[in-house]
Amino acid sequence: MPQFNTLWVYFLMVLNPVVTNTITEDIDVLVFLPQNNSYLFSHARVAPAILYAQTRLQKDVQFSGFHFNIHFENSDCANDAMLLLVERSCGQMPDLILGPVCEYEAAALVRLASHWNIPVISAGALALAFGNKLGEYSHLTRIAPSYVKMAETFTAMFEHFTWRSALLVYEDDKQERNCYFTLEGVYHHMTDFNIQIYPFSPEDRLDPEDILHHIYDTEGTDTEEDIY
Ligand SMILES: *[C@@H]1O[C@H](CO)[C@@H](O)[C@H](O)[C@H]1NC(C)=O
Repeated sequence: MPQFNTLWVYFLMVLNPVVTNTITEDIDVLVFLPQNNSYLFSHARVAPAILYAQTRLQKDVQFSGFHFNIHFENSDCANDAMLLLVERSCGQMPDLILGPVCEYEAAALVRLASHWNIPVISAGALALAFGNKLGEYSHLTRIAPSYVKMAETFTAMFEHFTWRSALLVYEDDKQERNCYFTLEGVYHHMTDFNIQIYPFSPEDRLDPEDILHHIYDTEGTDTEEDIY
């Protein structure tokens, strides 16, 4: 049905203004990546992918009207991102923010960005609290599976093997707290199971005997109070 197809394409072109290439728009993108290369998501590792995406979008006829102006800023997994956003926004607010990844840094930045209606796309911010889309994190889109997804996987494993209880052993550095946030998702999602926690600080050597004592002491008791 060649006639039908031609009509259909014409119809789509009328409906979809992007195809007709009449839209031109500058989009300011602010990207937060750490210069410190000890992070997996450092500037040296991630920036090439973002610049590649920018080039590809420029070549794509469908998006050639959009000009993504990319501006990189350092992030330090603390307050840098939020403070830099405030400083920059005194001039002109960005249209889109990519990053930051670290939980605390993302939290401060996303609250501000959501208040100012700036969308944020992050490969991090995986903690439980970011799942609330109605409040202060409304403008956050996460592109990696969150810790709650990991908890769902654990739940499926526990059900499959009919496991009932677990001891969550994690290092709490009291700074970025990645291990804490990882297991927080599990702890809160698996309330139907007997889940105990055993945090230890990076300065302490992990003591297997103490862990065993902890297990013996709590075995057979599964009231809430025993967990703390
Ligand atoms: C880079 O990050 C690591 C891990 O957080 C830290 O130990 C190190 O001191 C940092 N390096 C610099 C130059 O800030």
